[in-house]
Amino acid sequence: MSGLAVRRLSGALGAEIQGVDIAGDIDNIAIATMRNALSEHCILLFRDQKITPAQHIAFTERFGPLQELTLGSYLHADHPEIFVVSNKPVAGKPSDTRNTGRHWHTDMCYTPHPCRGSLLYALEVPPVGGDTVFANMQRAFDTLSDGMRAMIENLRAVHDLSRVPDFKNRDPEATRKIVADNPPVEQPLVWVHPDSGRKSLLLSEHITCRLAGMSDEESKPLIDYLIAHATRIKNTYRHQWRAGDLIFWDNRSVMHCAPGDYDMSDTANRRHMHRTTLAGPKDLLGTTA
Ligand code: SIN
Repeated sequence: MSGLAVRRLSGALGAEIQGVDIAGDIDNIAIATMRNALSEHCILLFRDQKITPAQHIAFTERFGPLQELTLGSYLHADHPEIFVVSNKPVAGKPSDTRNTGRHWHTDMCYTPHPCRGSLLYALEVPPVGGDTVFANMQRAFDTLSDGMRAMIENLRAVHDLSRVPDFKNRDPEATRKIVADNPPVEQPLVWVHPDSGRKSLLLSEHITCRLAGMSDEESKPLIDYLIAHATRIKNTYRHQWRAGDLIFWDNRSVMHCAPGDYDMSDTANRRHMHRTTLAGPKDLLGTTA
């Protein structure tokens, strides 16, 4: 494919891929270029895309198998591969996904096999706000002191989905199911990217509740420190969405957060996104805690 260009988005992470129409034919060389750019820059932005759910799914599949999603009420009615992140009411009730991702998180860290990445496509966005912020977890690891890196490198952490504070605002039945299906799981605190060999921190606010073998109280200062360190402004990229933007993030090297920085009391402010998810490899060892 001619005309593909990679333009960096910030000092910390992110690149815009220019000259690609996701709905069109994309050759394998262009896909390989994007794969390399993702490994280097952690997130990729594609502007001005006009894609159907089927095209969104087909593009995602070029990078690997999709994650099977389980929460029926959150999914696209005709395309269950798509998770709908939206503040549009569903059957007259507030959507359960309207507050998705309000805390810093690594997707599916609470499962034995966290996903490889996600592709979030903006169909409708508020006039201001509704941003998503990404933190570079490789840079976060690299910028710790030698002593801290050596101390944490072989630690494991417990991730417990039931700690998500927003669950109290969601449909209790759906919440009970997702928590019952996902008992606490132990993961390495530092994981190694299979493509680049770079190390990064595997963390989520609230969900990463303790270090293996320690109490919550003992673990909290270190977990809080690492999250604060990783999310310093200089280690992040904040995306202000336009309708037609698609962001592909590498879940093995970023944490992300949707701060909800728009006026949700104004029902004219619609934020409606479609997200596909790439399944994680089965070789990241996680044992039930
Ligand atoms: C997510 O956490 O997957 C959604 C992020 C967003 O809505 O910006």
